[in-house]
Amino acid sequence: MASKTKLFKNVIINSLIFVYLSIVGFSLFNYRSHCVFTSPSTLLRLPHLDKSDNGKCRVDLDKLELIKVDIFTAPEFDFILEKNHHVKKGGVSKPVGCSALQKVAIIVPYRDRLHHLKILLNRLHAMLVKQLIEYRIFVIEQSGLDKFNRGKLMNIGYLEALKFGDFDCFVFHDADLLPENDQNLYMCDQHARHLSSAIDEMRYHVMYYNYAGGVIAINRENYQRINGYSNFYWGWGNEDDDLSARIQETGLLITRPPESIGRFKMVRHAKLSRAEHGNELFFGWRGRWPEDGLNDIVGMNYTVLHFSDEPLFTNITVNIGSRPKTMPNHDSTQESLFWFLKFYYP
Ligand code: BGC
Ligand code: MN
Repeated sequence: MASKTKLFKNVIINSLIFVYLSIVGFSLFNYRSHCVFTSPSTLLRLPHLDKSDNGKCRVDLDKLELIKVDIFTAPEFDFILEKNHHVKKGGVSKPVGCSALQKVAIIVPYRDRLHHLKILLNRLHAMLVKQLIEYRIFVIEQSGLDKFNRGKLMNIGYLEALKFGDFDCFVFHDADLLPENDQNLYMCDQHARHLSSAIDEMRYHVMYYNYAGGVIAINRENYQRINGYSNFYWGWGNEDDDLSARIQETGLLITRPPESIGRFKMVRHAKLSRAEHGNELFFGWRGRWPEDGLNDIVGMNYTVLHFSDEPLFTNITVNIGSRPKTMPNHDSTQESLFWFLKFYYP
């Protein structure tokens, strides 16, 4: 009798070990096929940058370091300007004495977060000058009281930025995230570079490997290929997951700086709860993808209400319309529950 119980115990334990190892193996395999950690130094040796080396800026990463960022005190604009003489009207800057490797547009979707914006601009201008980046900061402000549509604001930012210059790289940036490490180069590679690989609020890890929220840098060609963000997510949640799925299905990787470099602090604010149809919409992302994004004439409908070259940023205030009363129905292309769970696998 005793030996039977022992045998039973062994079978259970071995089965559990087997299941555990399978899950670990599966997750490692899954992770490696979609995401990879790469050092910022890879951004300095990209093949397309080799054309002419003459006069190109050389960034010495060893001279850049982890900075203590203060997320509680918001400096006044005048103070920020005083400390950052390199910044020109519109929040524009470029290195002196060498030519930058990429021209970067920083797109910040925004509404009613002046406190965050001050803290962010103070940090970004100080960091980007050290990284020898040629850039312009665009604050894309949603007017009205409808739910915030982060994805659509990003698409608008992309299109509007191209009216200002021939940008190679777009950094889509939440207003409440502050990079801690100057080594985290705000540049694009040939994939999609998720710069916020370690947010303090997520205990300095990504919550799930397909996470693409926070701060992500995508080059112009790839942003066109993935058709930008979806315009359909009104309210908090899932629009970044939709983007991640687009990246993955286009055959691009999510590359990330190592966690020690991709560190960000999040400015504290009240958390919103997930939009009512968020997950539902995401289940049907694939069916919408070809027509929902940059190429969507109806979804991309917007008007610029206000434009100004502020001393530290370019402000573009837009009327983006309001959330459609009925949600699109794409039942034929719903993802399976397995796909969904696998997507959010930690
Ligand atoms: C949401 C994302 C969000 C992430 C981290 C997910 O469940 O769908 O939009 O960025 O959680 O908070
Ligand atoms: Mn936030």
